[in-house]
Amino acid sequence: MTVHNPRRTVLVTGAAGFIGRHLVEHLSSRDHTVIGVDLRQAPPRPANAAAGRHIVADLRTTDIRPLLDGVSSVVHLAALPGVRPSWDRFDDYVESNVLVTRRLLEAGAQTGLRRLVIASSSSVYGNQRDGAMNEDQPPAPISPYAVTKLAAEHLALAYAARPASVLTTMALRFFTVYGPRQRPDMLISRIISAVRDGREIRVFGDGSQRRDFVFVKDAVRAVTAAIDAPGPSRVCNVGTGEQISVTGIIALISELMGRPANVRTEPHRAGDVVSTRADTARTAEALGFRASVSLREGLREHIDAVRSESMPVGA
Ligand code: NAD
Ligand code: UGA
Repeated sequence: MTVHNPRRTVLVTGAAGFIGRHLVEHLSSRDHTVIGVDLRQAPPRPANAAAGRHIVADLRTTDIRPLLDGVSSVVHLAALPGVRPSWDRFDDYVESNVLVTRRLLEAGAQTGLRRLVIASSSSVYGNQRDGAMNEDQPPAPISPYAVTKLAAEHLALAYAARPASVLTTMALRFFTVYGPRQRPDMLISRIISAVRDGREIRVFGDGSQRRDFVFVKDAVRAVTAAIDAPGPSRVCNVGTGEQISVTGIIALISELMGRPANVRTEPHRAGDVVSTRADTARTAEALGFRASVSLREGLREHIDAVRSESMPVGA
Protein backbone atom coordinates (compact mmCIF):
# COMPACT_ATOMS: atom_id res chain seq x y z
CA MET A 1 0.00 0.00 0.00
CA THR A 2 1.28 3.49 -0.83
CA VAL A 3 1.07 5.78 2.15
CA HIS A 4 0.50 9.38 1.10
CA ASN A 5 2.65 11.61 3.25
CA PRO A 6 1.33 15.16 3.02
CA ARG A 7 4.52 16.58 4.56
CA ARG A 8 6.34 15.87 1.36
CA THR A 9 3.86 17.40 -1.07
CA VAL A 10 5.38 20.52 -2.57
CA LEU A 11 3.64 23.12 -4.72
CA VAL A 12 6.02 24.75 -7.20
CA THR A 13 4.83 28.01 -8.79
CA GLY A 14 6.50 28.96 -12.06
CA ALA A 15 6.97 25.22 -12.68
CA ALA A 16 7.23 25.61 -16.47
CA GLY A 17 10.01 28.22 -16.19
CA PHE A 18 13.78 27.80 -16.39
CA ILE A 19 14.49 27.08 -12.72
CA GLY A 20 11.02 25.57 -12.14
CA ARG A 21 11.49 22.79 -14.70
CA HIS A 22 14.79 21.73 -13.17
CA LEU A 23 13.30 21.86 -9.68
CA VAL A 24 10.26 19.75 -10.60
CA GLU A 25 12.52 17.12 -12.19
CA HIS A 26 14.80 17.08 -9.16
CA LEU A 27 12.06 16.90 -6.53
CA SER A 28 10.17 14.25 -8.48
CA SER A 29 13.27 12.07 -8.55
CA ARG A 30 13.38 12.25 -4.74
CA ASP A 31 10.51 11.28 -2.48
CA HIS A 32 8.43 14.41 -3.02
CA THR A 33 4.99 14.63 -4.57
CA VAL A 34 5.14 17.71 -6.78
CA ILE A 35 2.29 19.88 -7.94
CA GLY A 36 3.38 22.45 -10.50
CA VAL A 37 1.45 25.58 -11.41
CA ASP A 38 2.23 28.00 -14.22
CA LEU A 39 0.60 30.17 -16.84
CA ARG A 40 2.23 27.87 -19.34
CA GLN A 41 1.79 24.15 -20.05
CA ALA A 42 4.43 21.88 -18.56
CA PRO A 43 6.88 20.59 -21.14
CA PRO A 44 6.88 16.81 -21.74
CA ARG A 45 8.57 14.95 -18.88
CA PRO A 46 11.16 12.19 -19.33
CA ALA A 47 9.48 8.77 -19.62
CA ASN A 48 10.98 7.54 -16.35
CA ALA A 49 9.94 10.64 -14.35
CA ALA A 50 7.70 10.14 -11.33
CA ALA A 51 4.07 11.13 -11.76
CA GLY A 52 3.18 14.65 -10.74
CA ARG A 53 0.46 17.16 -11.47
CA HIS A 54 0.77 20.36 -13.46
CA ILE A 55 -1.95 22.96 -13.29
CA VAL A 56 -2.21 25.75 -15.84
CA ALA A 57 -3.46 28.79 -13.97
CA ASP A 58 -2.84 32.51 -13.62
CA LEU A 59 -1.86 33.25 -10.03
CA ARG A 60 -3.01 36.85 -10.48
CA THR A 61 -6.62 35.67 -10.62
CA THR A 62 -7.05 32.00 -9.73
CA ASP A 63 -8.31 30.91 -6.29
CA ILE A 64 -5.06 29.72 -4.69
CA ARG A 65 -6.53 28.00 -1.61
CA PRO A 66 -7.53 24.75 -3.40
CA LEU A 67 -3.98 24.49 -4.77
CA LEU A 68 -2.67 24.34 -1.20
CA ASP A 69 -4.83 21.37 -0.20
CA GLY A 70 -2.50 18.78 1.38
CA VAL A 71 0.53 20.95 0.68
CA SER A 72 2.91 21.86 3.47
CA SER A 73 5.62 23.58 1.41
CA VAL A 74 5.44 26.02 -1.47
CA VAL A 75 8.36 27.04 -3.65
CA HIS A 76 7.35 30.33 -5.19
CA LEU A 77 9.27 30.94 -8.42
CA ALA A 78 6.53 32.49 -10.57
CA ALA A 79 7.41 36.06 -11.50
CA LEU A 80 8.40 38.41 -14.26
CA PRO A 81 12.19 37.93 -14.04
CA GLY A 82 14.01 40.35 -16.38
CA VAL A 83 15.89 43.34 -14.93
CA ARG A 84 16.15 45.64 -17.94
CA PRO A 85 12.52 45.57 -19.27
CA SER A 86 11.15 46.43 -15.83
CA TRP A 87 11.40 50.22 -16.41
CA ASP A 88 8.66 50.09 -19.03
CA ARG A 89 6.31 47.57 -17.41
CA PHE A 90 6.34 48.42 -13.73
CA ASP A 91 2.59 47.79 -13.23
CA ASP A 92 2.99 44.28 -14.65
CA TYR A 93 6.00 43.61 -12.42
CA VAL A 94 4.16 44.83 -9.33
CA GLU A 95 1.17 42.69 -10.17
CA SER A 96 3.11 39.52 -11.02
CA ASN A 97 5.85 39.81 -8.41
CA VAL A 98 4.27 41.58 -5.43
CA LEU A 99 0.49 41.17 -5.63
CA VAL A 100 0.71 37.50 -6.63
CA THR A 101 2.99 36.91 -3.64
CA ARG A 102 0.42 38.60 -1.39
CA ARG A 103 -2.39 36.41 -2.80
CA LEU A 104 -0.28 33.33 -2.12
CA LEU A 105 0.53 34.46 1.41
CA GLU A 106 -3.14 35.20 2.16
CA ALA A 107 -4.17 31.77 0.89
CA GLY A 108 -1.36 30.20 2.91
CA ALA A 109 -2.46 32.02 6.06
CA GLN A 110 -5.97 30.65 5.60
CA THR A 111 -4.87 27.07 4.95
CA GLY A 112 -2.08 26.86 7.53
CA LEU A 113 0.87 26.75 5.12
CA ARG A 114 4.04 25.96 7.08
CA ARG A 115 6.94 26.57 4.71
CA LEU A 116 7.45 29.06 1.89
CA VAL A 117 10.64 29.08 -0.13
CA ILE A 118 10.54 32.26 -2.18
CA ALA A 119 12.81 33.21 -5.08
CA SER A 120 14.42 36.52 -4.30
CA SER A 121 17.34 38.00 -6.21
CA SER A 122 20.88 39.28 -5.83
CA SER A 123 19.61 42.40 -7.59
CA VAL A 124 18.11 43.60 -4.27
CA TYR A 125 21.64 44.52 -3.12
CA GLY A 126 22.11 47.10 -5.89
CA ASN A 127 25.60 48.56 -6.22
CA GLN A 128 27.30 47.65 -2.95
CA ARG A 129 30.93 48.53 -2.34
CA ASP A 130 33.38 45.96 -3.67
CA GLY A 131 33.39 42.65 -1.89
CA ALA A 132 30.94 39.87 -1.30
CA MET A 133 27.26 40.66 -0.80
CA ASN A 134 26.15 39.77 2.66
CA GLU A 135 22.56 39.24 3.81
CA ASP A 136 23.04 41.75 6.65
CA GLN A 137 23.93 44.62 4.27
CA PRO A 138 21.05 47.06 3.72
CA PRO A 139 19.50 46.32 0.34
CA ALA A 140 19.63 49.16 -2.19
CA PRO A 141 17.81 48.10 -5.38
CA ILE A 142 18.49 50.15 -8.51
CA SER A 143 15.90 48.65 -10.89
CA PRO A 144 12.10 48.44 -10.71
CA TYR A 145 12.44 44.64 -10.94
CA ALA A 146 14.69 44.56 -7.89
CA VAL A 147 12.25 46.78 -5.99
CA THR A 148 9.47 44.25 -6.61
CA LYS A 149 11.67 41.30 -5.58
CA LEU A 150 12.62 43.04 -2.35
CA ALA A 151 8.98 43.92 -1.66
CA ALA A 152 7.93 40.30 -2.19
CA GLU A 153 10.73 39.02 0.04
CA HIS A 154 9.85 41.43 2.84
CA LEU A 155 6.15 40.66 2.54
CA ALA A 156 6.82 36.94 2.87
CA LEU A 157 8.93 37.58 5.97
CA ALA A 158 6.24 39.89 7.40
CA TYR A 159 3.51 37.25 7.01
CA ALA A 160 5.72 34.69 8.74
CA ALA A 161 6.35 37.08 11.63
CA ARG A 162 2.65 37.76 12.30
CA PRO A 163 1.43 36.61 15.70
CA ALA A 164 0.09 33.03 15.58
CA SER A 165 1.47 32.50 12.07
CA VAL A 166 2.64 28.92 11.47
CA LEU A 167 4.60 29.97 8.38
CA THR A 168 8.37 29.95 8.03
CA THR A 169 9.80 31.85 5.06
CA MET A 170 13.07 30.97 3.40
CA ALA A 171 13.93 33.80 1.01
CA LEU A 172 16.63 32.68 -1.40
CA ARG A 173 18.53 35.44 -3.12
CA PHE A 174 19.57 33.70 -6.32
CA PHE A 175 22.57 35.18 -8.09
CA THR A 176 22.60 34.90 -11.90
CA VAL A 177 21.51 31.32 -12.68
CA TYR A 178 22.61 29.55 -15.85
CA GLY A 179 22.43 26.07 -17.34
CA PRO A 180 20.40 24.08 -19.88
CA ARG A 181 17.11 25.77 -20.85
CA GLN A 182 18.18 29.13 -19.43
CA ARG A 183 15.83 31.96 -20.44
CA PRO A 184 16.75 33.16 -23.94
CA ASP A 185 16.96 36.81 -22.80
CA MET A 186 19.87 36.03 -20.46
CA LEU A 187 23.54 36.62 -21.23
CA ILE A 188 24.97 33.10 -21.28
CA SER A 189 22.19 31.68 -23.50
CA ARG A 190 22.69 34.58 -25.85
CA ILE A 191 26.46 34.10 -26.01
CA ILE A 192 26.21 30.36 -26.68
CA SER A 193 23.66 30.70 -29.47
CA ALA A 194 25.46 33.68 -31.03
CA VAL A 195 28.84 31.88 -31.03
CA ARG A 196 27.19 28.75 -32.45
CA ASP A 197 25.48 30.71 -35.26
CA GLY A 198 28.29 33.19 -35.93
CA ARG A 199 26.08 36.11 -34.87
CA GLU A 200 27.04 39.23 -32.89
CA ILE A 201 26.77 39.37 -29.12
CA ARG A 202 25.46 42.71 -27.87
CA VAL A 203 27.37 43.79 -24.78
CA PHE A 204 25.62 46.40 -22.66
CA GLY A 205 28.35 48.79 -21.48
CA ASP A 206 32.07 48.04 -21.66
CA GLY A 207 31.75 44.41 -20.54
CA SER A 208 33.57 44.99 -17.26
CA GLN A 209 30.44 44.29 -15.18
CA ARG A 210 30.88 41.14 -13.11
CA ARG A 211 28.44 38.41 -12.13
CA ASP A 212 28.40 35.51 -9.72
CA PHE A 213 26.99 32.86 -12.06
CA VAL A 214 25.47 29.84 -10.30
CA PHE A 215 24.63 26.60 -12.10
CA VAL A 216 20.92 25.74 -12.11
CA LYS A 217 21.44 22.28 -10.55
CA ASP A 218 23.24 23.93 -7.63
CA ALA A 219 20.40 26.45 -7.29
CA VAL A 220 17.91 23.57 -7.21
CA ARG A 221 19.90 21.83 -4.45
CA ALA A 222 19.71 25.01 -2.40
CA VAL A 223 15.94 25.14 -2.85
CA THR A 224 15.62 21.50 -1.83
CA ALA A 225 17.66 22.16 1.32
CA ALA A 226 15.48 25.20 2.11
CA ILE A 227 12.29 23.12 1.92
CA ASP A 228 13.51 20.89 4.73
CA ALA A 229 15.75 23.25 6.74
CA PRO A 230 14.73 23.88 10.33
CA GLY A 231 13.33 27.35 11.12
CA PRO A 232 13.43 30.27 11.85
CA SER A 233 12.69 32.35 8.75
CA ARG A 234 15.87 33.32 6.91
CA VAL A 235 17.22 35.26 3.97
CA CYS A 236 19.99 33.29 2.23
CA ASN A 237 22.23 33.98 -0.76
CA VAL A 238 22.44 31.33 -3.48
CA GLY A 239 25.67 31.98 -5.36
CA THR A 240 29.16 30.59 -5.69
CA GLY A 241 31.22 33.34 -4.05
CA GLU A 242 33.13 33.80 -7.29
CA GLN A 243 32.61 36.20 -10.18
CA ILE A 244 33.65 36.83 -13.76
CA SER A 245 33.20 39.82 -16.08
CA VAL A 246 30.96 39.78 -19.13
CA THR A 247 34.07 40.07 -21.32
CA GLY A 248 35.67 37.19 -19.41
CA ILE A 249 32.71 34.85 -19.83
CA ILE A 250 32.45 35.59 -23.55
CA ALA A 251 36.12 34.60 -23.94
CA LEU A 252 35.63 31.45 -21.87
CA ILE A 253 32.59 30.29 -23.85
CA SER A 254 34.36 31.02 -27.12
CA GLU A 255 37.31 28.91 -25.93
CA LEU A 256 35.05 26.03 -24.79
CA MET A 257 33.13 26.08 -28.09
CA GLY A 258 36.29 26.45 -30.19
CA ARG A 259 34.73 29.27 -32.19
CA PRO A 260 35.25 33.05 -32.28
CA ALA A 261 32.92 35.51 -30.58
CA ASN A 262 31.88 38.71 -32.35
CA VAL A 263 31.00 41.49 -29.96
CA ARG A 264 29.04 44.67 -30.56
CA THR A 265 29.05 47.25 -27.78
CA GLU A 266 25.81 48.99 -26.82
CA PRO A 267 25.14 51.52 -24.08
CA HIS A 268 25.00 50.43 -20.46
CA ARG A 269 21.41 49.56 -19.48
CA ALA A 270 19.81 51.37 -16.55
CA GLY A 271 19.27 49.11 -13.55
CA ASP A 272 22.21 46.84 -14.36
CA VAL A 273 24.46 46.49 -11.32
CA VAL A 274 28.24 46.70 -11.68
CA SER A 275 29.17 43.62 -9.70
CA THR A 276 27.56 40.71 -7.86
CA ARG A 277 29.28 38.17 -5.65
CA ALA A 278 27.66 36.13 -2.91
CA ASP A 279 28.90 35.82 0.62
CA THR A 280 28.11 32.13 1.03
CA ALA A 281 28.67 31.72 4.77
CA ARG A 282 25.10 32.06 6.01
CA THR A 283 23.69 29.67 3.41
CA ALA A 284 26.35 27.13 4.30
CA GLU A 285 25.42 27.41 7.98
CA ALA A 286 21.61 27.61 7.62
CA LEU A 287 21.07 25.21 4.71
CA GLY A 288 24.28 23.18 4.62
CA PHE A 289 24.58 24.33 1.01
CA ARG A 290 27.63 25.22 -1.01
CA ALA A 291 27.69 25.42 -4.81
CA SER A 292 29.69 22.53 -6.21
CA VAL A 293 29.64 22.89 -10.01
CA SER A 294 32.56 24.85 -11.46
CA LEU A 295 31.88 27.46 -14.13
CA ARG A 296 33.70 25.39 -16.77
CA GLU A 297 31.71 22.23 -15.91
CA GLY A 298 28.41 24.10 -15.87
CA LEU A 299 29.13 25.89 -19.13
CA ARG A 300 30.06 22.61 -20.82
CA GLU A 301 26.66 21.16 -19.83
CA HIS A 302 24.86 24.32 -20.97
CA ILE A 303 26.72 24.33 -24.31
CA ASP A 304 26.01 20.61 -24.88
CA ALA A 305 22.31 21.21 -24.20
CA VAL A 306 22.12 24.09 -26.68
CA ARG A 307 23.96 22.03 -29.29
CA SER A 308 21.61 19.03 -28.88
CA GLU A 309 18.50 21.25 -28.97
CA SER A 310 19.62 22.64 -32.31
CA MET A 311 20.37 19.21 -33.78
CA PRO A 312 17.94 18.29 -36.61
CA VAL A 313 15.61 15.35 -35.81
CA GLY A 314 17.33 12.07 -36.66
CA ALA A 315 20.82 13.62 -36.62
P1 NAD B 1 11.13 32.06 -15.88
O1 NAD B 1 10.50 33.23 -16.54
O2 NAD B 1 11.78 31.05 -16.75
O3 NAD B 1 10.05 31.32 -14.96
C1 NAD B 1 9.01 32.00 -14.32
C2 NAD B 1 7.70 31.26 -14.61
O4 NAD B 1 6.65 31.91 -13.87
C3 NAD B 1 7.30 31.29 -16.09
O5 NAD B 1 7.16 29.94 -16.57
C4 NAD B 1 5.98 32.03 -16.10
O6 NAD B 1 5.04 31.54 -17.04
C5 NAD B 1 5.48 31.84 -14.66
N1 NAD B 1 4.56 32.88 -14.25
C6 NAD B 1 4.76 34.23 -14.28
N2 NAD B 1 3.66 34.87 -13.86
C7 NAD B 1 2.75 33.92 -13.53
C8 NAD B 1 1.40 33.97 -13.05
N3 NAD B 1 0.76 35.14 -12.85
N4 NAD B 1 0.76 32.81 -12.83
C9 NAD B 1 1.37 31.63 -13.07
N5 NAD B 1 2.64 31.52 -13.53
C10 NAD B 1 3.31 32.66 -13.77
O7 NAD B 1 12.17 32.64 -14.80
P2 NAD B 1 13.36 31.92 -14.02
O8 NAD B 1 14.64 32.42 -14.57
O9 NAD B 1 13.11 30.44 -13.92
O10 NAD B 1 13.20 32.60 -12.57
C11 NAD B 1 12.42 31.98 -11.56
C12 NAD B 1 12.40 32.87 -10.33
O11 NAD B 1 13.71 33.09 -9.84
C13 NAD B 1 11.80 34.27 -10.55
O12 NAD B 1 11.08 34.61 -9.39
C14 NAD B 1 13.01 35.16 -10.70
O13 NAD B 1 12.73 36.50 -10.31
C15 NAD B 1 13.98 34.49 -9.74
N6 NAD B 1 15.38 34.70 -10.05
C16 NAD B 1 15.91 34.18 -11.19
C17 NAD B 1 17.27 34.34 -11.46
C18 NAD B 1 17.91 33.79 -12.68
O14 NAD B 1 19.12 34.03 -12.86
N7 NAD B 1 17.20 33.06 -13.54
C19 NAD B 1 18.08 35.01 -10.53
C20 NAD B 1 17.49 35.58 -9.40
C21 NAD B 1 16.14 35.38 -9.16
C1 UGA C 1 19.68 37.78 -13.81
C2 UGA C 1 18.20 37.38 -13.90
O1 UGA C 1 17.68 37.69 -15.20
C3 UGA C 1 17.36 38.09 -12.89
O2 UGA C 1 16.07 37.49 -12.85
C4 UGA C 1 18.01 37.93 -11.56
O3 UGA C 1 17.26 38.55 -10.58
C5 UGA C 1 19.44 38.42 -11.56
O4 UGA C 1 20.15 37.65 -12.52
C6 UGA C 1 20.14 38.20 -10.24
O5 UGA C 1 21.32 37.87 -10.22
O6 UGA C 1 19.51 38.40 -9.21
P1 UGA C 1 21.23 39.61 -14.87
O7 UGA C 1 22.38 39.56 -13.92
O8 UGA C 1 20.94 40.89 -15.53
O9 UGA C 1 19.84 39.15 -14.20
O10 UGA C 1 21.50 38.42 -15.88
P2 UGA C 1 21.81 38.37 -17.43
O11 UGA C 1 20.60 38.74 -18.22
O12 UGA C 1 22.40 37.04 -17.70
O13 UGA C 1 22.90 39.54 -17.63
C7 UGA C 1 24.19 39.47 -17.06
C8 UGA C 1 24.99 40.68 -17.53
O14 UGA C 1 25.18 40.58 -18.93
C9 UGA C 1 24.32 42.02 -17.28
O15 UGA C 1 25.28 42.96 -16.90
C10 UGA C 1 23.74 42.39 -18.63
O16 UGA C 1 23.66 43.78 -18.88
C11 UGA C 1 24.73 41.76 -19.58
N1 UGA C 1 24.10 41.39 -20.87
C12 UGA C 1 22.99 40.61 -20.91
C13 UGA C 1 24.67 41.86 -22.05
O17 UGA C 1 25.67 42.58 -22.03
N2 UGA C 1 24.09 41.50 -23.22
C14 UGA C 1 22.98 40.71 -23.30
O18 UGA C 1 22.51 40.43 -24.42
C15 UGA C 1 22.41 40.25 -22.10
